[in-house]
Amino acid sequence: MNGRFSGQVAVITGATGAIGSATAHLLAAEGAVVALLDQQVAAGEALAAALQHQGGQALFVPCDVSSDSAMPAALAQVAQSAGGPTLLVTIAGINLNGTLETLTVADWDRMMAVNVRGVFLAAKYTVPFMKQAGRGAIVNMSSVSAFVGSKDSSPYVTTKGAVLSFSRSIAGELAPYGIRVNAICPGWVNTPFTDQYINAAPDPKALRDFASGQHLLNRMAEPAEVAQGIAWLLSDAASFVTGTELFVDGGFMIRR
Ligand SMILES: NC(=O)c1ccc[n+]([C@@H]2O[C@H](COP(=O)([O-])OP(=O)(O)OC[C@H]3O[C@@H](n4cnc5c(N)ncnc54)[C@H](O)[C@@H]3O)[C@@H](O)[C@H]2O)c1
Repeated sequence: MNGRFSGQVAVITGATGAIGSATAHLLAAEGAVVALLDQQVAAGEALAAALQHQGGQALFVPCDVSSDSAMPAALAQVAQSAGGPTLLVTIAGINLNGTLETLTVADWDRMMAVNVRGVFLAAKYTVPFMKQAGRGAIVNMSSVSAFVGSKDSSPYVTTKGAVLSFSRSIAGELAPYGIRVNAICPGWVNTPFTDQYINAAPDPKALRDFASGQHLLNRMAEPAEVAQGIAWLLSDAASFVTGTELFVDGGFMIRR
């Protein structure tokens, strides 16, 4: 397939999730060879097969993003099978809710390991290929919650703030190599990840209505709309955009 990403290998972490798979579909349709990294093996293999069936080029590589042994092994496999990646999208993320009273140290450490260390490891082991190619673009998944906080998700919010700070820092480090780094900040996105959070509330319908109403556009985003923002940041259309964040939030930050 031909498009904005023809001839490039794109690594996507959390690729089998709602936003990850929407991103994989879009990048593959626009010519990228998509390397799908996730720990959901059956879903990953099914996604790779579906993309290939649609004429895209895709490979699935099982990977726990928090593992300092799994990540370099996965990237080496990608490079060997498809070539060195020049595009990276870090989407893998989890949310363990709770308060200071209910959250355990293990909860905190797990959140940091997946949502922050996972982003660091993905960049650490992908950037050498980008430097070799003399080009690259990275998009890391943050959230509006990095800006507004949340009374029952302090570890999650902390990790999304860390992703922003990390992205800005490595944007400076990597600019001399022609590598751009940005973050993307969705508001609420209509996904099973969101459903899980909403359905745990005492009145899920009330929370869903409230969440939709937090956006100027009075609804949640669809995963494909977030993928469009990611693709733009990765593309040459954003050639002078680095070290910043793109809100795909339907006006959430204005309305709050
Ligand atoms: N859904 C929303 O409203 C929303 C809003 C803002 C930001 N985000 C962020 O977007 C990202 C994706 O959200 P989603 O709604 O698609 O969630 P999702 O749960 O559908 O996808 C997350 C993916 O990450 C994978 N994953 C989790 N831990 C992993 C690990 N250790 N190693 C490898 N893969 C791992 C999961 O298997 C899953 O495929 C997350 O980082 C989330 O914080 C979501």
